[in-house]
Amino acid sequence: MSGRGLILAIESSCDETAAAVVERGSRTLSSAVASQIATHARYGGVVPELASREHLRAVVPVVRAALAQAGLALDDLDALAVTSGPGLAGALLVGITYAKALAFATGLPLVAVNHLEGHIHAVLLNERESAPELPAQASDPALALVVSGGHTHLYLAQPTANTWRYKLLGRTLDDAAGEAYDKVAKLLGLGYPGGPWIDALAQHGNPRAVPFAFSQIKTKLHLAGKAPRTKAAKTAPIAALNPHFLFSFSGIKTAVLRYVELNNLRPEAEARRAALFTGRDAPARPTLEQALAACTPQTLDLIASFQHAVVGDLMKKTFAAAEALGARRILVTGGVAANRELRSRFSAEAAKRGVSVSFPTLALSTDNAAMIAAAAWPRFLAGEFAPPGLSADPSLALGR
Ligand code: KG4
Ligand code: ZN
Repeated sequence: MSGRGLILAIESSCDETAAAVVERGSRTLSSAVASQIATHARYGGVVPELASREHLRAVVPVVRAALAQAGLALDDLDALAVTSGPGLAGALLVGITYAKALAFATGLPLVAVNHLEGHIHAVLLNERESAPELPAQASDPALALVVSGGHTHLYLAQPTANTWRYKLLGRTLDDAAGEAYDKVAKLLGLGYPGGPWIDALAQHGNPRAVPFAFSQIKTKLHLAGKAPRTKAAKTAPIAALNPHFLFSFSGIKTAVLRYVELNNLRPEAEARRAALFTGRDAPARPTLEQALAACTPQTLDLIASFQHAVVGDLMKKTFAAAEALGARRILVTGGVAANRELRSRFSAEAAKRGVSVSFPTLALSTDNAAMIAAAAWPRFLAGEFAPPGLSADPSLALGR
């Protein structure tokens, strides 16, 4: 133990195996990420069994790399941290089992971290790194939008004496925003993950060409228990949430599909998929220029319009929640927070309204372990350690 507040964190909830060492939740000493994108790309999405297998392969080298990059040995650490959920059960279990074994062997305390809390702390970690003179908890309450491949959740994050408390304000009723990006990209014959492709191609289309609309969520149906069961419905009751802060992305996915069918864009999408991603002569790493050359103006307009509508909906609900709660500070985090249009439109709207908006650096937007170590720090200070029987909780909720 160094007494320097060094936490080694492990993250394995989805398709990245990551380990990082962060000092006192505010200085990243190392951050190693082994991505499985190449493994899952040919299936157009994450295959849970393959993810577990890849985590098993990667976890030991990734932890070694994080320690080596930081120039530390296990003996130097003050605590270990691990993501305990939400995520894929088998994937989470690899990280948890390894972290528990390390804790047992070294006698270090283990902190369990909620992946969503980790995403929120990615932004806080960046802020502390750029202003190290601020005490770790000198933060105002913030409205946090966590928007990734698995989640679209709105929270009020409030610092308390040592830790943070979260109140769930809204979430998606069906697909996460990143999931919609990935599914639309797949439909259009683009690569996996789809978000970065759509982000890059959208700059070359007309965002107003296809007027996609998000209708107001009909919460009465949900309140009456008549709504179809959704994946997300398991994690938190909808009745307690303001319908204006609920999201739904399955509708726009279907609207894109209908547009593709109606305009006969499928042959073009299939040709693009074969030429750039799945065909025998497809390049190992297709470039943006190649993708652009394989898209008609109509497809580029469709992509731009899809993104414009999704970002607009995320903005509308986030700023409505900020206004309703009087929050002056907004954090947007998770893989989709890497999106350029999202960053520029959220920033412009925040400036107009006189509130602040922060995003993590691009490396901290997608899954990583530095954010898990940062989220573990206040819990370590508060003495909130994982029980010896810690196990994976695939639908672990954050806040209520
Ligand atoms: O946070 P993350 O790495 O993993 C989850 O916790 O889900 O997020 C991955 C998601 C994917 O759906 C990916 O398509 C999306 O984030 N994504 C983006 C961008 N970069 C990644 N979506 C839109 N624009 C981007 N630039
Ligand atoms: Zn994530």
